[in-house]
Amino acid sequence: MIPAARPEIGQDEIDAVVRVLRTGRVVQGPEVADFEQEFGKLVDGRACVAVNSGTSALHLSMLALGIGPGDEVVVPSFSFAATANAVAVTGAAPVFADIDPDTFCLDPESVASVITPRTVAIVPVHLFGHPAAMDELVPLAGRHGLAIVEDAAQAVAARLGDTPVGAFGDTACFSFYPTKNMHSLEGGMIVTGDPHLERKLRLLRNQGMLKQYENEVVGLNNRMTDVGAAVGRVQLAKLDAWTQRRRQIAARYDAELTSVRTPKVARDAWHVYHQYTITIEQDRDGFRERLAELGVGSGVYYPTPIHRLAPYSFSVADLPVTERAAETVLSLPVYPLLDDEQVGQVIEAVNSL
Ligand SMILES: Cc1ncc(COP(=O)(O)O)c(C=O)c1O
Repeated sequence: MIPAARPEIGQDEIDAVVRVLRTGRVVQGPEVADFEQEFGKLVDGRACVAVNSGTSALHLSMLALGIGPGDEVVVPSFSFAATANAVAVTGAAPVFADIDPDTFCLDPESVASVITPRTVAIVPVHLFGHPAAMDELVPLAGRHGLAIVEDAAQAVAARLGDTPVGAFGDTACFSFYPTKNMHSLEGGMIVTGDPHLERKLRLLRNQGMLKQYENEVVGLNNRMTDVGAAVGRVQLAKLDAWTQRRRQIAARYDAELTSVRTPKVARDAWHVYHQYTITIEQDRDGFRERLAELGVGSGVYYPTPIHRLAPYSFSVADLPVTERAAETVLSLPVYPLLDDEQVGQVIEAVNSL
């Protein structure tokens, strides 16, 4: 069976972990500082603040921006629940907007239609590794005086034009969960170009302290471990090659999958294929079962849009494109550990159905 996803954990990662464990400095120490420095090169030199997950990155972004009860934040419903959870735990209300049917990212027109006087921010998700329409969302936010928090959990190294994801928003949030394009076991990174926000984020992740026991604000423990950072640094050094491999596999799928709708890429977008997501118009779940019988694993991201999940089921939202996507999307294996023969097997299996 070819699995739907496979984390990269090799000898280099194991060696890095052992090296850090032997130093005895294991939490928010020199490895974390180096990881922050090195990651900055991916995001036009913006400041990077490492945290313990992508969810923490989103949550702290909301707190640093002062978002809370009475505020509304526009998010896509077609995303992982973390996107909305990070808003809801602050007491603010996530307000769901629809997506573009080709890119699965926020549709700027739908975003504009849900903005109210209470709206304070937009969270564009660069879903599946495809950059959201920042060329329209940034000016829209500007016209309404809204903050932008990029959810770049799935899109490390993606770009729109010459600008990398992570360099558009007031903050941007990356996830280093094991199945992401690069990982740190668990972990996340917050990127910002604003020194005041950076300082707040550094305080918030560490109980409100920059110096031990000199607490300036109420904060949390969202620190990254040096063990995780060491893994992240090893992976960061390999990211370019891995991204090329993902794009190579995607190009082969584009060319050789004949029976299904393959993903579209917006003009000027540099897609990093965290997922390679095809569309099966009829009986997607049956298709998926038959694919599994042929030895090919696949994933459905996401079978239930966030606004239909129990905690958000009170939401009144009319999201036809999102509803349709949830019924028809199917993600094929696209990770760098796939060899050419396995890619061929996936193509053969899909085409045979
Ligand atoms: C779109 C999106 N946002 C946020 C997250 C949360 O990241 P984490 O699992 O690192 O908390 C994830 C990943 O799991 C995600 O895919």
